[in-house]
Amino acid sequence: MALALTPLSVPGDAGRLIAGLGDRAELHDLYDPTGSPVYHDLSVRDTHEVRELIAQVRRTPGDVLELAAGSGRLTLPLLALGRSVTALELSEGMLGLLAERLAESPARLRERCTPVHGDMSSFALGRRFDVIVLGTTTISLLDAAGRAGLYAAVREHLAPGGRFLLSTAEIAERADSGAQTDAEAVFEVTGAGGSDYRMHEYWPAGAETRTVTIFPAPIPDSGPVTVCTTTVGVLPADRLATELEQAGLSVLARHPLPAGGSRHHDVLLEAGVTA
Ligand SMILES: C[S@@+](CC[C@H](N)C(=O)[O-])C[C@H]1O[C@@H](n2cnc3c(N)ncnc32)[C@H](O)[C@@H]1O
Repeated sequence: MALALTPLSVPGDAGRLIAGLGDRAELHDLYDPTGSPVYHDLSVRDTHEVRELIAQVRRTPGDVLELAAGSGRLTLPLLALGRSVTALELSEGMLGLLAERLAESPARLRERCTPVHGDMSSFALGRRFDVIVLGTTTISLLDAAGRAGLYAAVREHLAPGGRFLLSTAEIAERADSGAQTDAEAVFEVTGAGGSDYRMHEYWPAGAETRTVTIFPAPIPDSGPVTVCTTTVGVLPADRLATELEQAGLSVLARHPLPAGGSRHHDVLLEAGVTA
């Protein structure tokens, strides 16, 4: 479904570009049925945080609940560990892409995966898991109420001694890194299917949100132009750790992740239910 389009829907140069396209621009959420294949094309070969996440999951045997599984970027490596994985995802478009990937996967993997349509901020699966995973800094899609719901649901679903592994941006490092700190960065990227994209990341220093907007590259001179966007909260690890503690989930370790780009580093938080 196209979003209501106004020049103010997207900030910065990306917003001005959209305004300049006028009614040729078709603006979509990055995870809606039109945006999902674009996200998938850009992420399917991205190995960011996979090795570190898998290393941590390996330390806690048992069944895995993966939240916001998307099209399976992390799901397939989790299945390859030999675990049973319940893959919860809100977007029907993403679940469709996950189903396609599972259908192409060996039966020994596919048979251990249970895709579930659900909301990570409010779910009741009627069982507990040894490991709950929320990767790719996806917690940043939830507001405070959503995160409170997430923590409560995680507590309800974590087995005794289980681990909740979630990644977030390590904002403190950004100021010290000497990396580019312009409000907006533009990247040219090629998807796994060979399509070229122009990606704008709008993130003024100190801002509470970050907006990623993706155009085809080059932008065609005529006809409709599909533009996909997502705005996420900026959630420093310290703030999340405090929220987790308040929700009865103790942070047991912080595992550094390689730089996710020139503008921020990420960290994998390992939490367990407070004794
Ligand atoms: C950054 S993508 C990560 C997907 C996948 N884990 C990966 O690494 O590629 C975020 C995912 O969260 C999903 N999502 C957004 N809000 C959600 C919610 N409330 N509950 C479950 N999934 C949600 C989106 O549809 C999208 O697939």
